[in-house]
Amino acid sequence: MKTLRAARMLTCDRGAWGSGALGVLADACVSFDAHGIHWLGPAAALPPELPAPSQSAALITPGLVDAHTHSAWMGSRHEEYVLRMGGASYQQLAAAGGGILASHRALIAASEDEVFAELRARLQRMAALGVTTVEVKSGYGLTREGELKQLRAMKRAAADPGLPRVVSTYLALHALPPPVREAVPLAASVANYVATMTGDVLDEIAREGLAVFVDAYVDVGAFTAEQASCLAERARANGIGVRLHCGQFADVGGLDVAARYAAASVDHMEHFAANALDALARAGTAAVLLPIASYTLRQRPPDTDALRRAGVRLVVASDANPGTAPSESLPLAMAMALRDYGLSTEEIWLGATHYAANTLRVAGRVNATGQLAVGAPADIVAWDAPAEACILQPWGTQRTVGVWRDGVQIA
Ligand code: NIG
Ligand code: FE
Repeated sequence: MKTLRAARMLTCDRGAWGSGALGVLADACVSFDAHGIHWLGPAAALPPELPAPSQSAALITPGLVDAHTHSAWMGSRHEEYVLRMGGASYQQLAAAGGGILASHRALIAASEDEVFAELRARLQRMAALGVTTVEVKSGYGLTREGELKQLRAMKRAAADPGLPRVVSTYLALHALPPPVREAVPLAASVANYVATMTGDVLDEIAREGLAVFVDAYVDVGAFTAEQASCLAERARANGIGVRLHCGQFADVGGLDVAARYAAASVDHMEHFAANALDALARAGTAAVLLPIASYTLRQRPPDTDALRRAGVRLVVASDANPGTAPSESLPLAMAMALRDYGLSTEEIWLGATHYAANTLRVAGRVNATGQLAVGAPADIVAWDAPAEACILQPWGTQRTVGVWRDGVQIA
């Protein structure tokens, strides 16, 4: 058992402490071990049988929860980034074999050991930024073998208690691999690909326990709502949850699928039909906002007011990937949510902790709560900053002094 003391403690447990949404305590202690948080409260009330604080920090918060990443990527797309900054569009880069297909080639060329090593190093860097839970998508394999390789590397990372908790998502429909997109007739080739990736491959992934969620990229030039609903249907049969990339460039009906299958989240949301939001809110589907991606693509931020008015929960994530979100930093995404998305400090902190965790818990296999509360897993960050707003500016600084996941110090 270990006790930490903080001048300011953010529990993200609404109403448990004080009246604010973030449940803030002044001069507080938290006692925990690998089984979870045993006690927290004002330092003056620390029960004598618990250990005295071994460390003091200016600020203690729940571990950050990054609910949307593509962290199991290989290679680098720095050359494409230069072209993009010179004006090439996402679609132009994709048509030239860049984009997702460039990462696909790098993934196919790598061994599972290499994917694991790359992912582990990336997760360690994320831990140092205060992140204790990371959703990781496959989606660069684009074939049965490639997707299994990514997902097995992710499973190995998920088994390592010294890393952030990994929640694996099978991104079944991300792009068409070259042999499929070059085949004639194209329609039959695509139909066959979608049937395989959302059928037998998904069943195999479920049998091997490789994914908690599925995902599909539902957009112009990507996959249709109908294809996404085939995936969601089969996921449901396998007891796997659904998250969907929706509206990065256009709303092509993915939100209706998300609401119909009570998806955990719809992610991106730069474009949406406002009349789809009520059903989403009723289904409890959260919007995962990805400000680093929209900034990279020089897009207008989503209409967060409309989401809020409809009662759709807001989550903030990094979208860490080698193309559209070239950063591993959830704190940077949080800073941009304040700067560009019109979210309040409270919305951002809940959206990067408790609400993010809620989108990951729905499949019943993830224990993260994104809160400091008795009985919750001990996912805790100590910072050398006096207030939660200091993590949102200045940008690009690393202020953690200790990071614990399930009671084990990981950074
Ligand atoms: O979330 N939009 C689709 N997928 C990713 C991009 C992945 C990539 O470019 O490698 C995204 O932005
Ligand atoms: Fe993404």
